[in-house]
Amino acid sequence: MKALRWHGKEDVRVDNVPDPKIEATGDAIVRVTATAICGSDLHLYGGKVATLKEGDILGHEFMGEVVETGSAVSNLKKGDRVVVPFTISCGNCFFCNQDLYSLCDVSNPNEDIARSEMGHAPAGIFGYGHITGGFAGGQAEYVRVPYADVGPVKVPSHLPDEKVLFLSDIFPTGYMGAENANIKEGDTVAIWGCGPVGLFAMKSAWMLGAGRVIAIDHVPERLRLARSYANVETIDSFDADQVYEQLMEMTDGMGPAACIDAVGMEAHGSGAMTGILDSIKSSAKLDKQLQHPYVLQQIVKCCRKGGNISVPGVYTGFLNMFPMGPAMNKGLNWKMGQTHMQKYMQPLMEKVEQGDIDLTAIITHRLSLDDAPEGYKIFQEKRDNCVKVVMTP
Ligand SMILES: NC(=O)c1ccc[n+]([C@@H]2O[C@H](COP(=O)([O-])OP(=O)(O)OC[C@H]3O[C@@H](n4cnc5c(N)ncnc54)[C@H](O)[C@@H]3O)[C@@H](O)[C@H]2O)c1
Ligand SMILES: [Zn+2]
Ligand SMILES: [Zn+2]
Repeated sequence: MKALRWHGKEDVRVDNVPDPKIEATGDAIVRVTATAICGSDLHLYGGKVATLKEGDILGHEFMGEVVETGSAVSNLKKGDRVVVPFTISCGNCFFCNQDLYSLCDVSNPNEDIARSEMGHAPAGIFGYGHITGGFAGGQAEYVRVPYADVGPVKVPSHLPDEKVLFLSDIFPTGYMGAENANIKEGDTVAIWGCGPVGLFAMKSAWMLGAGRVIAIDHVPERLRLARSYANVETIDSFDADQVYEQLMEMTDGMGPAACIDAVGMEAHGSGAMTGILDSIKSSAKLDKQLQHPYVLQQIVKCCRKGGNISVPGVYTGFLNMFPMGPAMNKGLNWKMGQTHMQKYMQPLMEKVEQGDIDLTAIITHRLSLDDAPEGYKIFQEKRDNCVKVVMTP
């Protein structure tokens, strides 16, 4: 089959590889009918995930048709159309039993790698390097889906692929991002990043009762989409001082009650401390180890005292210049994590079915899997007003 493989920093290619096979009785094989490129794929593409190996198949946002099931699979059968969550979870461990699916204790076969860095291992993830299990991803013609009774959700026949594909990650991620911000009726919510995750976090913030939603980015067409699709107010800047001043002006000096980081570790930035850190980084060649938490710094400074901070944006490794003192003294509350997908997919599928949200509105590029290398470039460089790339094998 054809699959998109990583060959090194910013080098991905569509290669011919062996078809996946059933390896455990709970597996299914899915023929992929649609797959997308995620902001998280950019961290891999850019070589920021240390445990990715040459030849790994990427992709964790995908859906398709079940073509084969292992002997223990009872919920799915050949021919079912399914959307598959990016996290792989057993459904039966201490963590899965508390709906903490992305912390599944069983699904990550490489727990030793994770344990040495983090103390414990998170769940397996498709196409996300070896620290999360080294599973082959879904930017391919076929994928092996472990724990097939727990993850994939069946798609009603009247819903086309594009209407449900983003239930595989970014809609649940935006939704959990908003839920983790503990929004109370009428709260002002500020969301950093108008990419796909940020946009769905904005839609979700309204669903959860926000009174006002303010989005921050510096990419014109994304800010435009935030205003037209998610009906939010916007701040057009990556500059820490400007964002702080504007947010204070908009909230009478109080700051937003809830702040969401939908950017993660590859934030752009400028502001007071930027120059100092960046010169240390480049002189010591520490770029990979020293991520600059521009957005987290802004959030801590801007958030209302005692406010809630939610971090769906992805970080790996360790951070420098994290404003721990201000965060502690302002009494801020934090929630974060990879999305507990299996908790959200069915209820959010219902919102899609009822027409509460149109997930297709953020798709700007439709490509064939053969064009995936070009798709990565376009998405990374935000060329051609790119917000979201969907590919068909
Ligand atoms: N927690 C999860 O389970 C989960 C799942 C999917 C994606 N993610 C993460 O969510 C993040 C966003 O994903 P995406 O697909 O929307 O990515 P994306 O790269 O398309 O969007 C990120 C946006 O952030 C903006 N940005 C950069 N620096 C900024 C700054 N200083 N202030 C404000 N905006 C800034 C960029 O201009 C861009 O529009 C990524 O880190 C991704 O890895 C997490
Ligand atoms: Zn994703
Ligand atoms: Zn589990």
